[in-house]
Order: sequence, then C-alpha cells, then structure tokens
Amino acid sequence: MQLQTAVTRLLDIEHPVLLAPMDLVADAPLAAAVIRAGGYGFLGGGYGEEGWLLRELAALVPAARKTHCPFGVGFITWSLARQPRLLEIALEQGPSAVWLSFGDPAPFAPRIKAAGAKLVCQVQTEAMARQALDAGADILVAQGAEAGGHGVSRGSLALVPALVDLAGPDVPVVAAGGIADGRGLAAALMLGASGVALGTRFYATVEAAGFDAAKRRIVEASGDDSLRSVVFDISRRNVWPAPFTGRCLYNEHLRRWAGRELDLMRALGTEGERYAAARVSGDFDTAAVIAGEASGLIHDVPRAGELIRRLVEEAAGLLSAAPGFLAENSRQSLASMEAK
Ligand SMILES: Cc1cc2nc3c(=O)[nH]c(=O)nc-3n(C[C@H](O)[C@H](O)[C@H](O)COP(=O)(O)O)c2cc1C
Repeated sequence: MQLQTAVTRLLDIEHPVLLAPMDLVADAPLAAAVIRAGGYGFLGGGYGEEGWLLRELAALVPAARKTHCPFGVGFITWSLARQPRLLEIALEQGPSAVWLSFGDPAPFAPRIKAAGAKLVCQVQTEAMARQALDAGADILVAQGAEAGGHGVSRGSLALVPALVDLAGPDVPVVAAGGIADGRGLAAALMLGASGVALGTRFYATVEAAGFDAAKRRIVEASGDDSLRSVVFDISRRNVWPAPFTGRCLYNEHLRRWAGRELDLMRALGTEGERYAAARVSGDFDTAAVIAGEASGLIHDVPRAGELIRRLVEEAAGLLSAAPGFLAENSRQSLASMEAK
C-alpha cells in the first residue's frame, strides 16, 4: 500500500512519513532504518556537536548511497547561528534536505539551496510560517504544541490547515505533534498536510539512540503525563530564547520544580550537577524524557520499519473506508429526516 503526496514526490520517498531530527536520539541507525523502510530520515544535529555529526554522517551516508536513498540533516537554527560551519560539514555529504527549526532560517537558506538541498522549515505559528516562506522554504513543518521537545502553544488541529492555506499549492506542509499511528497520519492528510513528521513515536523504537528506560517510560506514560516547561532547560543550563518551551514527561524533578523556576535557578549549583549526573547515568527520576502527548498512543517498542508499515497500512485503510463512512452518514440522516 502506498500513499503518494506532494512530499513523497518532492523528497523522492515511498511513504509520507518523516523522522524528525531529534537531538541525539535520531542518529544514524534510526535514520537508516527509516530510509530503508521508505520514509525520510533526518539526522538530529540538534545543538550542533561536531564530533557527533561527523560520526553519524560517516555511518549514515555510505548506507544511504548504497541504497540510493535520500537523507537529511536537521539543526536548531538559533544554535546553528553560533557555529555555522556545521552546516558546511553537513552539506559536504550531499543531504537532499536540511531541516531548520526554532529561529530565522533566512541567513542559511541561500547556502542550503545553492548546495541543491531542499529547505525544510519547522514552524510553530503563522508569523513564523510567513518568515520561512519569505526565506524560500520548500516544505513547511507545522508543529503543534502536543509535540515532544521544544515548541510553542498552537494546537495542531487549527495550525496545520491554517499553514496549508498560507503556504498555497506550491509549498507542501507536513504535520508534526501528537501523531503516533495511522489515525494521525490519515487525519493530517485530511487537514491538507502532505505528510507527517514523528518524534516521540520514533523515540520508542528499537533503533533509536537512548536508554531503554526512557523508551519504557514513553510506553508507560499516558497522554496526560507530559508538561511544556523550562525546567529541564534551566536544569541543564541551556536556556532557550522565548517563546519556546520544552515538553517532557513528568518525573520527580519536574514535579518538584514546575512553577518554582526561580527557586530552581537559585539552587542551580547543586541541582545542575545532580541533573548532569542523572543524564549520564540514565536516572529518569531526575533527567527528562523528552516526549509529547503522543506517548499515550504508544504501547510498544517496535523496529522503525515495522512502525512505518503499520502507520501507512492503517492510514490507507482508514482513508479507503472514508467514502463508505460518508454514505453511511447520509443514509442515516436521510432515514432520520424521513422519520420526522
Ligand atoms: C526527544 C526529542 C528531541 C527533539 N529534538 C529536536 C531537535 O533537535 N530539533 C528539532 O527541530 N525538533 C526536535 N524535536 C521536535 C520534533 O522536531 C517534532 O516537532 C516533534 O517530535 C513532533 O511531535 P511528536 O513528538 O508528538 O511526534 C524533538 C522531539 C523529541 C521528542
């Protein structure tokens, strides 16, 4: 079963499913697994650690070339601005797309396009979408507040179609935030999106980098168990520019400090050290599991390829059942009108 959209055509992929470039989590094994299964894999360049980027590109690029599959690299825009050479390192390896999120993409857009890569801009508001379109975005990713990780406050249901209208017919929109199964993919397509970008769902896969304990917490969490806050950014001494906050699963640390951010800043001498040690040892009572509301829809840790197959099959099944649903509804309303 295949779902063909403007995004599958533009990115030359089989399925309209993108691996979001999750900082450190979306490494070469996960990106390669997504690519092999016919999705699009972005390496999670995140804040930009040169050693990590070189290592993961060296692992991913030969595999992608061997199978003639396109791949991409994602960066956090405000952080890339501090070390723009990382973009050159990525572009040298011939990604077919570069994903920028959280900041003005304009300074990097000409270089990305000159290298022949598509510019994919993840945005969280209509104003940010206009900025990305002005910069020449080839694809907009509409990120709703349900998303794991950093974001803003708009919900996907109204944001996605608003950005589809704004972008017009020439710039496809990809929906991100709260999508974990075929229902989410089918709904995104109905909202006018041409694909989906998944973070939290791909985190809980076999190939994703990260502790098994973090993946287990995602599986066990309900959709109520996450909060958008600045607690983990303060704790790891990585404060973001406004208006971005980060969505993570509740744990002891978040419960203790949410709403008491000033106190946390005052206690950062000890709390910062404790937090850094917890990140290294995988103590998720303190360290954050970065994940979103989609956690409530996640009940297992499959291989990424199996996940993509499931998503597409379920979405295709729902979409092909839709005309029957319409007929059923009109039969029901006809019957109720006749009964009156
Ligand atoms: C663990 C994790 C790390 C993330 N890191 C980044 C990042 O470095 N850059 C980025 O653009 N988005 C990042 N995101 C957000 C994703 O791009 C995407 O918007 C989000 O995962 C979609 O929502 P979902 O988590 O409900 O699938 C991250 C998300 C998660 C869950």
